Amino acid sequence: MKTSIPMRDIAGKIIIITGASSGIGRATALALAREPAQLVLVARRHDRLAALEEEIRKAGGIATSMVLDLRQKDQVETMIRSTRDRFGRIDVLINNAGFGFLGSVEKTPAAVVREIFDLNFEAPLLASQLVIPIMKAQGGGHIINVSSVVGKRGFPLSGIYCATKFALQGISESLRLEVKDYGIDVSIVSPAATRSEFGEHLRHGDGTYKFQPTGPVQSAEDVAAAIVACIKKPKLEVYPSRLSRLLVWANALVPSLVDKIISRYFRDRIRAAKQHS
Ligand SMILES: NC(=O)c1ccc[n+]([C@@H]2O[C@H](COP(=O)([O-])OP(=O)(O)OC[C@H]3O[C@@H](n4cnc5c(N)ncnc54)[C@H](OP(=O)(O)O)[C@@H]3O)[C@@H](O)[C@H]2O)c1
Repeated sequence: MKTSIPMRDIAGKIIIITGASSGIGRATALALAREPAQLVLVARRHDRLAALEEEIRKAGGIATSMVLDLRQKDQVETMIRSTRDRFGRIDVLINNAGFGFLGSVEKTPAAVVREIFDLNFEAPLLASQLVIPIMKAQGGGHIINVSSVVGKRGFPLSGIYCATKFALQGISESLRLEVKDYGIDVSIVSPAATRSEFGEHLRHGDGTYKFQPTGPVQSAEDVAAAIVACIKKPKLEVYPSRLSRLLVWANALVPSLVDKIISRYFRDRIRAAKQHS
């Protein structure tokens, strides 16, 4: 007889959400507040975090915020240590903060590579390294890394951003096997194009092309709902959009065909970059 795993109760769980001041992080905070979890909201924009904290409190939820720049290693340490000192435990860490970069691999400056890896890869890595001993001591926990479909398949003119997400995918897969026996789940969420402030915060390198979301665009609330469902019933991999799962399968089977489709889809962007070089 098949036994189904019971849904986990989120109420009262101590959950850290990085990049909570907008987009996917904000939507996830609002969704988790309804459970109600005890949220620790992290980002740099104080006014945004204060307004979100207030919104959550008015709706009967519990949230506290930390204004931190996660590109700074000491601030990642502050996030984990202060949460542990204040609440005595950390049940879920959602590594969501990130930004994109549009530019060719050939011409991406080393300083930009450093900057984007600092936030998109090294901050989640360090936060995970610091939270694991806490989760081991408390008998379990859940780390959720927000990657992207471009962490599964490279797209032209965003190679360095893709690389940060491939790196995140790599440590997530390794880590989940290393910590499984301690009751710690590691999930990777791979959204497709999502309505958020991502396009506004996107950094531009060479080329005159404009950022346009690729394929059907989902809402930040759709991604948030998938993250909440993943906390209730942990999954290794989460694709909030079914089409992106299809892309990943197709790429594993016939990468040359996916190359053709992507080249066609991005032909204007590729042409603009060529003219600019
Ligand atoms: N939107 C998409 O199409 C899409 C698709 C796939 C994956 N994703 C991924 O989803 C995640 C969330 O992105 P989003 O779409 O919600 O974009 P967003 O609206 O731009 O949100 C990014 C968040 O990261 C925070 N952040 C940026 N730099 C930070 C820093 N140095 N320290 C701390 N926090 C920082 C921002 O807050 P502050 O500016 O206040 O610090 C903001 O809260 C990212 O990892 C992104 O790569 C997005």
